[in-house]
Parts: sequence; structure tokens; C-alpha cells
Amino acid sequence: MFAAVLEQGDEVLLPDPGWPNYRMMLPWLGARAVYYPCPSEEGFQPDLDALGALVGPRTKILVVNSPNNPTGAVYPTSTLAAMIELAQRNNLWLLSDECYDQILLDGTWTSPASLAPDDARIATVFTFSKTYAMTGWRLGYLAGSADLIDTATKVLESNSSCVSTISQVAAEAALDGPQDCVGEMVGAYRRRRDLVAGILQDAELLIARPTGAFYIMADVSPAGLPARELAFKLLREREVSVAPGTAFGQVAGQAVRITPGRRFGSASPARTQISRRAFGGWGNSCTGVPNRKLFVYPAPVELGRNRPTPRSVWPDMQLLRPILTMVARSLGPGRLRLVVVKFAQKLDRP
Ligand SMILES: Cc1ncc(COP(=O)(O)O)c(C=O)c1O
Repeated sequence: MFAAVLEQGDEVLLPDPGWPNYRMMLPWLGARAVYYPCPSEEGFQPDLDALGALVGPRTKILVVNSPNNPTGAVYPTSTLAAMIELAQRNNLWLLSDECYDQILLDGTWTSPASLAPDDARIATVFTFSKTYAMTGWRLGYLAGSADLIDTATKVLESNSSCVSTISQVAAEAALDGPQDCVGEMVGAYRRRRDLVAGILQDAELLIARPTGAFYIMADVSPAGLPARELAFKLLREREVSVAPGTAFGQVAGQAVRITPGRRFGSASPARTQISRRAFGGWGNSCTGVPNRKLFVYPAPVELGRNRPTPRSVWPDMQLLRPILTMVARSLGPGRLRLVVVKFAQKLDRP
């Protein structure tokens, strides 16, 4: 969306604390970040007066991220309405990053676009990374006016063309499958948030109780060390990884971000479900994925030379075992070490 809208010299209003990658996206577009404070004393809610004062002649986009990374703050409807009003009054785009939209721990949540459905300058971005624990699949989507989507599509076409097919299949499985895993995950995040918030509260280090996402900020000023130094010390001496508040701007300089979520390993309900549905229980029952052509490449594949001709087979994952046996036999004993499997888009011939 940034690449579709921004021009050299434009300014983008970003939350502080906020996800650092917004800032990192701007220099290569020749645009500049301007930060609006979301002070810890206000529970990391945006300071609307300060925000209004930052709008200038080059301001083009106001970024809103609720639930917020790194604070877990969820903005009330009145705050969002005021931000929309500010954007409309100043002819700004409002980009709502709703990547944690399903991870609400308490209370209610509102999407800005729902408050001004006819406003063509509101755009919303989503990801599969959080709701379905699919970070590695690199898949998200943008909702906005037809003109914006048209331009964004051209930008995307010129740099990545499209999302890989295998990720699209996984996303389809995530959307079509039972959604109970999402509720289970949010329940687990809520329990961990309660646990960590309780511990921090008892130690008088809790800044604000997060109501969304899966992060919690801890005040580390009593440690007497800069947050970054403390984060490295914790990593070295306790093998505990936290993110220093300085990574997210100026406001949380005396804090660290704790992510109270265990790493999603292969046993995570969401990931197990997605891999089972997308790959038909890869390595186990091998069922499913009808109507998709399967290419099997014997590997290691040396790019540029010696690339083997794919043996394409059709269409059922049930065939996987015999196919692998066939490939192994044709290569000779001990040659089959790794197989790269690729799904092609639906084809209309058998
Ligand atoms: C606020 C926010 N927006 C966007 C993203 C991007 O997610 P992904 O690149 O995995 O889709 C993240 C990831 O941490 C995030 O915290």
C-alpha cells in the first residue's frame, strides 16, 4: 500500500511505540516517518492532540495499528472515529493494520473501515501470520478502494508477481477448515497474558494490561540499565528473549516487550490442522488436495544446471508413496535424499 500511494518527500504518521518495519519500508520510497506518541501513562493509547499537531503539508498516510504491536493496546471506537475525522479533514489516507484483528483478549474491537464504509481513502491490511500461526507462509491481503487495489496489484506484479501456490493452498485450508483452533489459541494467549500480567503487577513492573495481540510491556527502569543492554543480558545469562522498547520508538525506551507465547512448533493446533488440510496429513495419511497437479523433483536440484525434469503425476496425494518409490527406483539405490514437491494451479486436463 505504501508503494502504491507514496511519493518522494511524503510523510507517514506512525504510532510510537509501533512495529519497526513500517519505518523500514519508507526510505526506499523516499518517504519519511513522523511518530505520534501513544504514552504509557495513557495505557499506550494515541495522544490525539499530539497527533493532530503533527499533520503537515507533506503528510499522506496515517497508520493505525489496533490491536497494537508491541503494546497490545486496543483503541476504543471513539479514538478511531477521531483518527478518521482527522484523516478526512486533512485529506490523508488511513491505513489500518489489522493483523491482530482476531486476537482480542478482553472487551471489544472495531475496524476503522466499518465506521466509514464509503471512505475510499481507508485501506486495511491483514495477514495469515497471527490468526492461523502461519508466519512463514508469507501471506496477507489488502482491502480498499478498487483504484487502490488496482495500483497495489501493479506494484506487486512488478516485484513478486504473486504468492506461492503452496501458501495459497495452505491459506485456503485455513479459511475453509474449522476455526476452533483460533479460539483455542486466543484462549491460551489470554491465560498467558493473565499469568505474565499478574507476575509483573506483583513486581510493580506492569505498565498497562494488554487487551489484544500477544505482547506485554514491562517497565525495566528499576534495573538501572538501558533496555537494549538489559535485553542482551537476559538473553546471555537467562536465555530469555525480550525485545527492547527502543526497537519500537522513543516512548517505550524504559520498557521491554515480552511475548508470552511459546513458539508454535509442529504440535500447535493451528499448524497441525493447516498442514493436515493443506497437505493431506503429510507423511501420514496422504489424503486430499484433489484437482491439483503434483510435480515431484528429485533433489538436490542444482539451479542452472543439472536440473532434473519433473515427473508430473495426477492428481491424488494418495499416489505420493508409489510416486516416491518410482522416483527412487529410477534414480538408483541411495540417490533419493530429498524430494521437492510442488503443487501447480488447477489444470483443466487430467
Ligand atoms: C503490526 C504488524 N503488522 C504486520 C506484521 C506483518 O506480519 P507478516 O509479515 O507476518 O504478514 C506484523 C508482524 O509481526 C506486525 O506485528
